[in-house]
Amino acid sequence: MEIADRMKGMENPIRDVLAKADELRKKGKKIYPLNIGDPNKFDFKPPENVMQAYAQAIRSDYGYASSEGLPELREAIAKKEGVSAENVLVTAGVSEGLYFTFMSLLNQGENVLIPSPFYPQYYTISKICGGTENYYEANEEWVPEASEFRKKINAKTKAIALINPNNPTGAVYPKKLVKEIIDIAGEHKIPIISDEIYKGIEYDEETIEPAKISKDVPVIALNGFSKIDLCTGYRIGYMAFHGECGKVRDAAVGLCRFRLSMNTPLQKAVLPLFEGQQPHRKETVRKLKERRDIVFKRFNEIPGMQCAKPRGAFYAFPKVEGKWKTDKEFVYDLLEQTGVLVVHGSGFSKTLKNKHFRIVFLPQPELLNEAIDKIDEFMKKS
Ligand SMILES: Cc1ncc(COP(=O)(O)O)c(C=O)c1O
Repeated sequence: MEIADRMKGMENPIRDVLAKADELRKKGKKIYPLNIGDPNKFDFKPPENVMQAYAQAIRSDYGYASSEGLPELREAIAKKEGVSAENVLVTAGVSEGLYFTFMSLLNQGENVLIPSPFYPQYYTISKICGGTENYYEANEEWVPEASEFRKKINAKTKAIALINPNNPTGAVYPKKLVKEIIDIAGEHKIPIISDEIYKGIEYDEETIEPAKISKDVPVIALNGFSKIDLCTGYRIGYMAFHGECGKVRDAAVGLCRFRLSMNTPLQKAVLPLFEGQQPHRKETVRKLKERRDIVFKRFNEIPGMQCAKPRGAFYAFPKVEGKWKTDKEFVYDLLEQTGVLVVHGSGFSKTLKNKHFRIVFLPQPELLNEAIDKIDEFMKKS
């Protein structure tokens, strides 16, 4: 069967590496899964109050919810975001919010200016929506210059996307830079798409949400409960429209209606996250900071490797030098020799000049150290 042309842009950078890992696992090799950004695969699980509310809600809240989201959840999100409830839409994770945003904004041949390296969904969704590629590049600490945005915006640019804190690099953009980016967006009369899924997972300084400092530049904020609230598999998030987003919001409402409704009991389940203390958040950051420090220190001690300090999220994006022609070749070799599974940097970028890979520092310190020992030994032998 022939697939539609629009689907030909769909790529999964690690599908073949995963297949290789499965093959090795079946042969009895221990695999260290430093490839996937899912806290629930390690020593993190959803907060007890959420699980209890979910268990209760499946017995009482089983009809379709309103397509835009359960009114009480929209109200709670609206209060947090500082918008009215009609400017909040509940989505199946940031993933669906991203899809609705790009579908609502992009015509064939237009572009959203996205970071390089990027979270792969941005590349794929943009392609599926007929968008062209347009990337802003960053320095060695993975922070871009404001001038880069001026250089890259063109007549077909419909929005600037910020992922802050960032996947795959762990970068956190300083407030001054965010302000400059907003000003540039304002000069070009385009909105900001702000992916805030890692908000709250910061180790040194906090990120600033663009909507908090934008005066008149519209911001489509995307957020959810997968990361700091540890509910990856529940699949829930939201879009919050700040400023003049009327028509784009209406288009996104149309897409919400098209898929009828989000899971109803789940929307009840996350309500406790808006009330009172949430001790799991502090504890999560405490555990992750220890793991970030291990990764930052140890990767910079390994010959042939250099690692910028991750300031947020749970990813590091080290540079690797050595005999490998490409970073994908390095990733395969590492997997075969050691069982450590990471993702090649070129899976996140079409423009990187050096060889990189992404590691996830979610595993417990013992496991993380064991995996890094393997990488260290592998590099010394190579
Ligand atoms: C930058 C970024 N945006 C969005 C998502 C998807 O989030 P969700 O689970 O809310 O769909 C991820 C998941 O890893 C991500 O890294």
